[in-house]
Amino acid sequence: MPATSLDQLVSLSKRRGFIFPGSEIYGGLANTWDYGPLGVELKNRVKKEWWQTFVHKRQDMVGLDAAILMNPKVWEASGHVSNFNDPLVDCKNCKERFRGDKLLEEKLDVEAAAVLKIDQVQPMLVAEKIPCPGCGKIAWTEAKKFNLMFKTQQGVIEGEGSDIYLRPETAQGIFVNFKNVINTIRPRLPFGVGQIGKAFRNEITPGNFTFRTREFEQMEIEYFVEPGEDKQAFEDWKQTVWDWYLSLGITKANLRIREHDKKELSHYSSRTVDIEYRFPWGWGELFGLANRGDFDLSQHEKASGEDMKYTDPDDATKKFTPHVVEPSFGCDRTVLTFLLEAYTEEKLENGETRTLMKFDPRLAPIDVAILPLSKKEHLVAKAQELYKKVVQGTDLVVDFDVTGSIGKRYRRQDEIGTPKCITVDFGTLGEDAKQGEKDTITIRDRDSLKQERLHIEELINSLVR
Ligand code: GAP
Repeated sequence: MPATSLDQLVSLSKRRGFIFPGSEIYGGLANTWDYGPLGVELKNRVKKEWWQTFVHKRQDMVGLDAAILMNPKVWEASGHVSNFNDPLVDCKNCKERFRGDKLLEEKLDVEAAAVLKIDQVQPMLVAEKIPCPGCGKIAWTEAKKFNLMFKTQQGVIEGEGSDIYLRPETAQGIFVNFKNVINTIRPRLPFGVGQIGKAFRNEITPGNFTFRTREFEQMEIEYFVEPGEDKQAFEDWKQTVWDWYLSLGITKANLRIREHDKKELSHYSSRTVDIEYRFPWGWGELFGLANRGDFDLSQHEKASGEDMKYTDPDDATKKFTPHVVEPSFGCDRTVLTFLLEAYTEEKLENGETRTLMKFDPRLAPIDVAILPLSKKEHLVAKAQELYKKVVQGTDLVVDFDVTGSIGKRYRRQDEIGTPKCITVDFGTLGEDAKQGEKDTITIRDRDSLKQERLHIEELINSLVR
């Protein structure tokens, strides 16, 4: 089960260095978060697992890393300038600002709220007697379209022609490079391009920790297929992504699939399903799968004048615009899900409670901790020797801790999810009464708490992944 309260996770994240509030020494900047020393390791591992699974281990995939800043014509062609809007209303009494469609959604169903035109939003709020959540009055302004893209200026001269946007999705970087990829890699359909990177949206109601922020990271795939093969590809990706989340330790009961209603679909999609996770505040979108058809490539062909078609390498007369199935993962939401899923409080036999993060070992920020039993100089020296051996002989992330009792140090490692702790003791030095313990260590398992004695050479072999 996920942590019962988000507060517990936020507090552990801050205390142990997973996630800090952004710009904290200046009083913060609302809804910005910084990944700390452990958070960055966890996030990098999520990205590494994703890249390995979806780019390296598939013959039909390649990677890309496109620029965040793109020619503004991209966003006109993609439909984001005209369609990526929320209807905003202000309360004339308290001056607070809200998304009119969201206020209406609570009263009407999602479908009914989604079909309203911008000039119907305010009259509908009044007709339904929907008060301001801030002050309780019904004093709404006309709804205004608010584009979610962040605008900035390029170059030193402010003014006309220099306005550009921070990308609101990584996807367009892939579409505009379609020809480059085709011409250099010469892939056969079906094939996909994967990309991990930042995206920016001026969200009206960010919140719930890293769930909805204005700056976030996406892990996206644009998968190109022959028209007519999109439906099967859609089903295949739905299953593949579902299985990926389960394989990394997400509990099945905390995941569900939600099909978008026709009225709810984004401007580019003919079908969308979300994989939702049961967050502490309720179900929320973790991943979205969209059938974008030939929308983007056709739009870019029209707007840029470049031919965006694909020619069959076996039959040059067969030329067409591929259709696109898009698996889109929120990286920060995925990290948040793994954090929530890992958080465990366990009652021990002695009545104490231990907090542990039960990360899949592939995701744990630290693989092993090396702990000399005490601060005695020769124990520490031996443990340091072992530390060097492990970091040089493996690609593991290794922690070294001498501070506090061994019990306290175990607890600290449990709390950050370190799967294995290695203790160097007097047996290791050959100073213990027991025979044959020289150059052996104990290795302790985070989940079972079992300890095993191993020879150092065996240890290195057992740690190599
Ligand atoms: N290219 C398609 C696309 O961008 P989306 O459903 O708008 O689709 C995809 O976004 C994923 O990105 C979402 O499922 C979510 O995980 C993540 N995401 C979107 N907006 C976000 C935000 N404001 N904060 C954090 N993650 C966000």
